[in-house]
Amino acid sequence: MTSDPAEPASGGPARVTRRRFLGTTVAAAGVGAAVAVGVTSAVGGGSPATGEDTVPFSGEHQAGIATPVQDRLAFAAFDLTTTSRGDLERLLRNWTSAARRMVVGRELGRGEPDPLAPPVDTGEALGLRPSRLTLTIGFGPTMFDDRFGLSARRPAALADLPPLPGERLDPERSGGDLCIQACADDPQVAFHAMRNLARLGRGTVVLRWSQLGFGRTSTTTSGTATPRNLMGFKDGTRNIRGDDRTALDRFVWVGDDTDQPWMRGGSYVVARRIRMFIEVWDRASLQDQQDTIGRFKVSGAPLSGGREHDTPRFGDRTSNGPAIPDDAHIRLASAEENHGVRILRRGYSFTDGIDTSRGELDAGLFFIAYQRDPRTQFVPLQRRLGAHDALSEYISHTGSGLFACPPGVGGPDDFWGRSLLGAV
Ligand code: HEM
Repeated sequence: MTSDPAEPASGGPARVTRRRFLGTTVAAAGVGAAVAVGVTSAVGGGSPATGEDTVPFSGEHQAGIATPVQDRLAFAAFDLTTTSRGDLERLLRNWTSAARRMVVGRELGRGEPDPLAPPVDTGEALGLRPSRLTLTIGFGPTMFDDRFGLSARRPAALADLPPLPGERLDPERSGGDLCIQACADDPQVAFHAMRNLARLGRGTVVLRWSQLGFGRTSTTTSGTATPRNLMGFKDGTRNIRGDDRTALDRFVWVGDDTDQPWMRGGSYVVARRIRMFIEVWDRASLQDQQDTIGRFKVSGAPLSGGREHDTPRFGDRTSNGPAIPDDAHIRLASAEENHGVRILRRGYSFTDGIDTSRGELDAGLFFIAYQRDPRTQFVPLQRRLGAHDALSEYISHTGSGLFACPPGVGGPDDFWGRSLLGAV
């Protein structure tokens, strides 16, 4: 085992900064070529990164799931252009190696720069802090077709999502063999990571779709103010907390009961690009908005009264009927009304300019949810919401992805997906 200088010692914070980029290695592109990534000679500027700037990359579970949500997102789905298992393994090794460096704020490349070759690192994150960058990988259902001999390793829980009510999916914003979720407090750091992984993978993968997100819409941390989504409501009040081990084990991490041991400690992510009809929403009365969600807009308290974090009393009635309407989003999505089922939400707002056909904003929520089995969590939830939720009038699901996120990586020789490829 060789030690990797870019890896934080025993999961602790790394005392490094992004430094002036000096070294490069010629990035060997093309199918089957191992792309060298290494540590750049580190000289010069920047103030030392603090432990608060870095999230440990290694661990039992991948970072970026139970990790306190960062402010920004760059999400990308990729398709493999190779049919070689060796290429797939090389890609995963190279991506892991690059990810280890980027999350501690180191650029890619090694040795003296070659002025005649393109720089290995694209450079836009030089001098920026690690910004709590996390990189999380997922494998889509299509990776388990016949191309790589992995069909026997496809988990039953990675069943294609069935058609669901409330969706008008754009194939160009859906699916993918692989996904990378890059989250950071600095948008440029998140984008840089996604871009450089795409670049390293050239010849083996192509980008299929991507999504930038801002303004995290879900709390996963106790004791912090709940952020608001683009509808102006607090979002994440009753989300699973990243420090609630019992809930994580029950609802998020794949356990021993899986049909695919390589997924133990992993999770399944469902990503949905949900367009909001903002102009319609903005014309709805405050009361309609509150009845739609089931909470007061300003305080975030449930319509049954009390304060934001008080448990909604779904049985309470007023002279006009239930205090929280029967079709309110929080009622239909609640564990109480869904056989105790919960999910870990980790979404972001997005705006992608305007929909020129209607002169309306193309904006909404890039919904990301982690769970141990989408068949019993996301799918039944969305079936119910899509059919009955008052919110459906104001939203439409326009993109969709489902990915199996393998467990975390260990020491320097380990890589994303080793449990999958090694198990075959
Ligand atoms: C644009 C679309 C959506 C918006 C604006 C939205 C907004 C909200 C808001 C404001 C809350 C209340 C605060 C909280 O507890 O987090 C909430 C709760 C929740 N939402 Fe959504 N949501 C959307 C889509 C979805 C989808 C697609 C699902 C799952 C299929 C979902 C599942 C949940 C769950 C499980 C809760 C917690 C309910 C509870 O236990 O009280 N949401 N959402």
